[in-house]
Amino acid sequence: MKIRFLFLLATLLLTSFFVTVSLQESFAQSAKSYQYGNIIMRDSASVDSGGTVVFRHWSHRSKYSCRLCHVDLEFSQIAGDSGITEDDNQSGRFCGTCHNGKEAFTIKLCAKCHAQDEKQLQEILKADKKAFFAFQKTMPRSSYGNKIDWMKAEQDGLIQLKDKLPGISPVQMNFVTNQRNEPLEPQLSGLPGIIFSHQKHVAWNGCGMCHPEPFKLVNGTTEMNMQEIIAGQYCGRCHGTVAFQINDCALCHSKPVSL
Ligand code: HEC
Ligand code: HEC
Ligand code: HEC
Ligand code: HEC
Ligand code: HEC
Ligand code: HEC
Repeated sequence: MKIRFLFLLATLLLTSFFVTVSLQESFAQSAKSYQYGNIIMRDSASVDSGGTVVFRHWSHRSKYSCRLCHVDLEFSQIAGDSGITEDDNQSGRFCGTCHNGKEAFTIKLCAKCHAQDEKQLQEILKADKKAFFAFQKTMPRSSYGNKIDWMKAEQDGLIQLKDKLPGISPVQMNFVTNQRNEPLEPQLSGLPGIIFSHQKHVAWNGCGMCHPEPFKLVNGTTEMNMQEIIAGQYCGRCHGTVAFQINDCALCHSKPVSL
């Protein structure tokens, strides 16, 4: 029985792999651990346009909650969608909220973010790769994505996430969720059901990153399937771009099956 299940999973894995490759080029499935979650926010070497900007999730998520950036600071959860201008940054919005010379290096150091030619870009990428592997060494490991078990790192206190910035975040925030796990049942017998933990997500994501979109506020009413998830919707908005990848089937399909 166990063998039948493993066979099923392997077949599904293979099909989902091909679907993935054909479905979405931007899907970061094939990204190397040091590139996973990196976003090329500006892809232009011209000086007028500031120059190429690479934003790294791995370095920022080791210090801040997802919620802080994606709710309080209004960064979009879709790459290229925030509409950031130089003026915004200089006025202390978006990247400029933290890159003000206090929380992080000042926005005036253009070359720290913008590479204006291929040589500068290569130098930045080389330095980042080195910094990533030095950081990865200090973290618990996992199989996919950044190959860092971010959940464990947060739970063990190896990283401490700032979830508020004074003057920007609401003063009072108290996220209370039900402590139970929400079971979601995929419509296929023999496939382990999904265990979704609110408690574990809230530390990173608050509520506003998931409600009212893409998830409805009544259990069992959001219609979603694996194809859509692989294509980057629902759970796949984060899993496959920033949080652990879709390859890690058993991390979501973790409810024991009775065959
Ligand atoms: C320091 C701020 C910051 C933090 C912290 C942060 N993000 Fe982001 N995130 C961004 C920016 C900036 C973008 C790019 C937005 C754009 O291009 O307009 C982005 C983009 C994304 C995207 C779109 C990716 C894509 O390829 O389409 C997702 C999904 C996302 N973030 C999820 C997360 C999750 C989950 C976390 C926490 C684990 C997180 N972010 C933490 C700033 C942040
Ligand atoms: C919530 C605060 C915060 C926001 C928002 C933020 N950063 Fe950062 N960033 C930091 C901190 C803290 C560091 C590390 C300390 C330092 O280098 O001064 C950092 C470091 C960096 C670095 C150095 C290399 C690396 O990746 O660690 C780059 C490049 C960078 N940020 C780009 C950006 C860009 C681009 C944006 C906007 C899209 C942004 N940051 C938004 C806090 C932030
Ligand atoms: C913390 C990282 C960071 C620093 C430092 C930074 N920028 Fe930017 N800059 C960005 C990001 C992110 C964007 C928006 C990219 C996008 O979404 O297309 C941007 C966009 C721009 C743009 C194009 C948009 C527009 O408004 O025309 C220009 C020009 C620009 N920056 C110039 C500069 C100059 C000049 C400096 C130094 C005084 C600077 N930037 C410093 C991150 C940074
Ligand atoms: C990472 C995404 C995510 C985050 C963050 C999140 N939720 Fe949910 N929530 C879900 C999913 C998925 C469901 C199930 C939806 C379904 O089955 O249609 C759900 C269901 C619910 C339900 C319905 C429960 C029921 O018994 O019917 C409530 C209420 C809810 N969430 C409240 C919250 C609150 C409050 C927060 C913040 C403290 C929060 N959620 C944070 C994803 C999230
Ligand atoms: C981030 C969590 C997550 C990961 C990782 C994940 N799944 Fe799913 N899967 C889901 C959710 C959520 C559903 C839909 C459940 C529902 O609608 O109640 C689902 C449904 C399914 C279904 C049911 C049929 C369908 O198309 O919806 C299959 C088959 C499936 N997943 C296979 C896989 C395989 C194989 C992998 C690994 C390659 C995988 N899943 C990884 C969350 C995940
Ligand atoms: C808004 C972004 C976001 C969405 C949407 C999201 N997740 Fe997550 N999830 C995260 C982050 C961040 C973590 C922390 C671990 C990491 O980054 O790999 C996480 C962790 C998990 C874990 C690991 C829990 C543990 O015990 O270690 C599971 C399982 C999971 N998610 C399942 C799901 C399922 C199923 C869905 C869809 C119903 C979903 N997630 C939707 C961001 C998200």
